[in-house]
Amino acid sequence: MKALVLSGGSGTRLRPLSHTMPKQLVPIANKPVLAYGLEAIRDAGITEVGLVVGERIEDIREMVGDGSRYGLEVTYIPQEAPLGLAHAVVIARDFLGDDDFLMYLGDNVVLDGIDELVRHFRENPSDAQVTVHPADPREGGLAVLDADGRVTAVEEKPKNPTSNLALMGIYVFTPSIHEAVRSIPPSARGELEITDAIGWLIDKGYDVQGRLYQGFWRDAGLIDSLLECNQAVLDLVGPRIAGKVDDDTEVIGRVVIEAGATVTRSRLVGPLVIGPEAIVDGSYLGPYTSVGEQCVIEDATVEYSIVMDRAVIRDVRGIHGSLIGRATTVRTAGPAKGGHRLVLGDNCQISLV
Ligand code: DAU
Repeated sequence: MKALVLSGGSGTRLRPLSHTMPKQLVPIANKPVLAYGLEAIRDAGITEVGLVVGERIEDIREMVGDGSRYGLEVTYIPQEAPLGLAHAVVIARDFLGDDDFLMYLGDNVVLDGIDELVRHFRENPSDAQVTVHPADPREGGLAVLDADGRVTAVEEKPKNPTSNLALMGIYVFTPSIHEAVRSIPPSARGELEITDAIGWLIDKGYDVQGRLYQGFWRDAGLIDSLLECNQAVLDLVGPRIAGKVDDDTEVIGRVVIEAGATVTRSRLVGPLVIGPEAIVDGSYLGPYTSVGEQCVIEDATVEYSIVMDRAVIRDVRGIHGSLIGRATTVRTAGPAKGGHRLVLGDNCQISLV
């Protein structure tokens, strides 16, 4: 079985971060979102991966390379524009050939593996298998299952959901999907929807099965779900201290300090990870915070947040539930200036108290 991983798209719901980095590269506990999917695919025993990429192909390539660092063989499949998940299947036709394949949306994060999903499909072959999770389906798609687990209906972005089963971005398809993706028209938002292709299979009488995923799952395309992913992963890490911590620093709970990082005169309360070569001084770093590499945090308090590589936070108290992009500076103005001085790009979200 091959895998088709979708890592294009525009990431509109993650602006402004997605202006400068693909949403699949946002770090969760200092590891990119996409890495969680690639590792789950490898752990399910699939090695041949087609990676659909958009205009940010070079950023993705820098992270994934030829796939060998994840134990995978990756073929890049450029998509000229984000024309939909089913469009990605259309352009991957040569790569997929007539094989069954796992389709994995690159912004989906699962922490409890997908090997059971793959094994179930192999042992109980059907024409297609979708994965469902009990959650509010309005942000994505929904599925309706009968008592035998057969999918009887699917709907994308339902306004009035008729089930509490959200469609996850993890599907197993047989070659029957190729006729489906060629037969459906674009949706109202102008995309070829995979949900419509699955609906087409159901209408034509194909056997589409739904498999319930019991473990942790989030679509990391939203800011709150990224922070929830960060919390869930930090619950599983550490403690490990490879960097330097001075005697005036108090370390409580599961804290990871990577090699080359230096922490002085601070209070660290885990779960928390501090990346390589970061500098933390005179600060409180609270639970569920990840600090990327080469960050500088001085005289600040930060908790429940993702601070990305090379960000600088100085003289700022009370940062909470925040996502701070790479090489961003957050600091208070000098005492003489008063007020807030903000230099912000498009689509930023700032909450001041
Ligand atoms: O995460 C689960 C949801 O994913 C499902 O519940 C929905 O049924 C499914 O349509 C999808 O909804 P989203 O609105 O979250 O899809 P999104 O546009 O965020 O795209 C998902 C991934 O696929 C993301 O990594 C970007 C990539 N993508 C997207 C499009 C539209 C592509 O590579 N090419 C594309 O053309």
